[in-house]
Amino acid sequence: MSNREQFLVASEPYYQAQGREVELFAAAYAARLPVMVKGPTGCGKSRFVEYMAWTLGKPLVTVACNEDMTASDLVGRYLLDASGTRWLDGPLTTAARIGAICYLDEIVEARQDTTVVIHPLTDHRRVLPLDKKGELVAAHADFQLVISYNPGYQSLMKDLKQSTKQRFTGFDFDYPDAALEAQIVAREAGIGEGVAGRLVKVAHAARKLKGHGLDEGISTRLVVYAATLIRQGVDVADACRMAMVRPITDDADIRATLDHAIDATFA
Ligand SMILES: Nc1ncnc2c1ncn2[C@@H]1O[C@H](COP(=O)(O)OP(=O)(O)OP(=O)(O)O)[C@@H](O)[C@H]1O
Ligand SMILES: [Mg+2]
Repeated sequence: MSNREQFLVASEPYYQAQGREVELFAAAYAARLPVMVKGPTGCGKSRFVEYMAWTLGKPLVTVACNEDMTASDLVGRYLLDASGTRWLDGPLTTAARIGAICYLDEIVEARQDTTVVIHPLTDHRRVLPLDKKGELVAAHADFQLVISYNPGYQSLMKDLKQSTKQRFTGFDFDYPDAALEAQIVAREAGIGEGVAGRLVKVAHAARKLKGHGLDEGISTRLVVYAATLIRQGVDVADACRMAMVRPITDDADIRATLDHAIDATFA
């Protein structure tokens, strides 16, 4: 299997579009413009990028960013082995060489000195300098950079520089409207839309508490978890508590409020 084939998305991911994001992303890709997808956790950003890679027939290289990540983790480094030193490409370099869509997930987690390595790849130069190796990699014609970003979670210290932000086009993602979300949950977990719709109602009750005791409401991901447990035969109220309440808060009052919403919704 070639390096490129190894990164192709194997089968069509299920993605329910919320608006015109599919055609807009395709337009950005056609021009090879870098894309930033913004939105709360579990709202479909990663699924969307997988779907677009599949639709466009391009390999996808995903990197989960974190604060300990260095530029070498992205770009590559020399390794020592029995036969001496050997250069190993990092995921960003691999993506630039094979013409993949490179998805840097949660880019704000990375330190700013790490983030700047993407700059020459995201403007007209489309190159990646491997300083330690003394090589200048010209990005493959199919290469595109996509980053994700959870707005609001980061402190002022942890935001992207304007010089980074202004290299991207952007999409705002959010939880889908109730009917669409119920459809997604039903399809993902294989349960009826009636029950899915009620689970979404519980999620909405929690989303109203954002900023009033909850940092973030119940994501679509957690609604899918609850539905999956129900599909496994778990009692509805137990499934809701286990998937949608216990993980998100330890606050006794908020738990009581959400437990009440569950009982009222499924009464
Ligand atoms: N539009 C959608 N179509 C299909 N599935 C969706 C959609 N939106 C959400 N989902 C479901 O929600 C789950 C979480 O979505 P995803 O992993 O893409 O979230 P995310 O926005 O990348 O979250 P995070 O910021 O935490 O990485 C998916 O696994 C899928 O089950
Ligand atoms: Mg994600």
